[in-house]
Amino acid sequence: MPDPILNIQNLTAGYGATPIIHCVDLCVHLKGIVVIVGPNGAGKSTLLKSVFALNKYFSGSVEFMGHSIVGVKTANLVPMGISAVPQTSNVFANLTVRENLQVGTYAAPPKNAAATLDMILTLFPDLREKLNQPAGQLSGGQRQMVAIGRAMMSDPKLLLLDEPTAGLSPAYLERIFDLIQQIREAGISVLLVEQNAKQALRIADMGYVLVNGKNGYTDTGKNLLANDEVRHAFLGGGLPA
Ligand SMILES: Nc1ncnc2c1ncn2[C@@H]1O[C@H](COP(=O)(O)OP(=O)(O)OP(=O)(O)O)[C@@H](O)[C@H]1O
Ligand SMILES: [Mg+2]
Repeated sequence: MPDPILNIQNLTAGYGATPIIHCVDLCVHLKGIVVIVGPNGAGKSTLLKSVFALNKYFSGSVEFMGHSIVGVKTANLVPMGISAVPQTSNVFANLTVRENLQVGTYAAPPKNAAATLDMILTLFPDLREKLNQPAGQLSGGQRQMVAIGRAMMSDPKLLLLDEPTAGLSPAYLERIFDLIQQIREAGISVLLVEQNAKQALRIADMGYVLVNGKNGYTDTGKNLLANDEVRHAFLGGGLPA
């Protein structure tokens, strides 16, 4: 296994005085796709927000490329190479697609903004035709592409995605999963939270089932899909995927 790009150990974090995730371990290797699944309210978004310094840290370690990022503010994490797409409200509806993408460069201007934009528009050809349209006029799937594209405008090394396929039709869902694999091929590691757990685990190197804010099951995507207990309790049952 290559070196970890993100290494979380024994992390307890939450909001205000309340811990939500407890003693969580999670590791993303360079150019890996790691998926977090689990029931609603399990703490998946909270875990992702903890990496991006958006909530309250209690204890444990979070290392990015071998250095602790505990206490580093979000605005400083972006230039270090971490970028995130939140679960909701992830585009500026009144700004055009081009302006939305530009927002992604503010915290960490890419070395060559035109080349980065071109790379993103090659990945998301739908957006090329819509660059001058307000993002609020796009379909749900196209908005997700804008949100992911914006996060990629800062040339991240690690992309945090919170349910990028929520509410999408099966066809768009497949496209987003294809795009995530292309993003990895472009050298970016991906930490993905997903409710479409079976599909997500198919593209995952490693999967973490989070249960009540704790590590439940951790294994390769393939092994989790083949695990009867996991399948029945967390993946909607059915035959092995
Ligand atoms: N801003 C907040 N302040 C206080 N508590 C919060 C906040 N956001 C989430 N929580 C609580 O943390 C717990 C975990 O929420 P979280 O959003 O991490 O779950 P999740 O696994 O992402 O769920 P879902 O699948 O529904 O997105 C929930 O009990 C929720 O009420
Ligand atoms: Mg969530």
